[in-house]
Amino acid sequence: MTPSCIGVFDSGVGGLTVADALRRALPNAPLHYFADSAFAPYGEKGADFIRTRSLQIAGYLREQGAQLLVIACNSATAHAADAIRSEHPDWPVVGIEPGVKPAALASRNGRVGVLATTATVNSERFRQLIERHAQGAFVEAVGCSGVVAFIEAGELQHPELRALVARYCAPLRKAGVDTALLGCTHYPLIRSLWQAELPGVQLLQIEAAVAKQAARLWPEPNWGAGGVVLASSANPEPLGRLARTALGWEGFELRRIDLAPLVPGTGIEPVRPC
Ligand code: DGL
Repeated sequence: MTPSCIGVFDSGVGGLTVADALRRALPNAPLHYFADSAFAPYGEKGADFIRTRSLQIAGYLREQGAQLLVIACNSATAHAADAIRSEHPDWPVVGIEPGVKPAALASRNGRVGVLATTATVNSERFRQLIERHAQGAFVEAVGCSGVVAFIEAGELQHPELRALVARYCAPLRKAGVDTALLGCTHYPLIRSLWQAELPGVQLLQIEAAVAKQAARLWPEPNWGAGGVVLASSANPEPLGRLARTALGWEGFELRRIDLAPLVPGTGIEPVRPC
């Protein structure tokens, strides 16, 4: 029998920030994390690709015994959460979205910045999020192309990454925001770079709130030995390295999983060998 677990996925290593919050909220819950690193970044791909690939990954995690799915990716939540929920109406699914409401409430001057992927910023769901939850605050949203590729490559201090961060923070400084959201799960991994470019600005991230919501929905709170599988569609070593060095995890199992290497009809090839 397949053991039950919480299924978690992201385009790559970034969703580990959510998985880490999950492990704090539910230390005994077994986790199966899937990083689609062969196809990252999602944030620079089209909605059809993100939806099709996310559905495929959700199916894989359900086969692995996931009783609950956590979409640890803002871009996939924006473009695929509805499709996953309609394909699996009996399955609890938790997504992550930029916390526009908490940011608007936390801002003292009513000016909020959002740093996210281009796919998130351009999504209809993000437009609605601002319309419903900005509470009258001015929102400066910036799509940060190119950032995730450096984080996937483990180049967290690369000078070109620093230059990109500086470029994307400039409009937020110009807009005079006092609060900024890290609206991509990869971004907390380089939190100090964002903060250096936004001195005095409070940076918000909502991974802990997502984990809290997942904990409410996890049907087996007292069950499990906390086993963790970290799977990747590319070489899983960088995922394991990050889990060890950035999060201090130990005792997990690393797996390479070759889901279909191409998503039929999209013409998008993996950027790293599957
Ligand atoms: N970590 C993801 C997010 O939260 C996706 C980043 C990417 O692949 O572009 O949006």
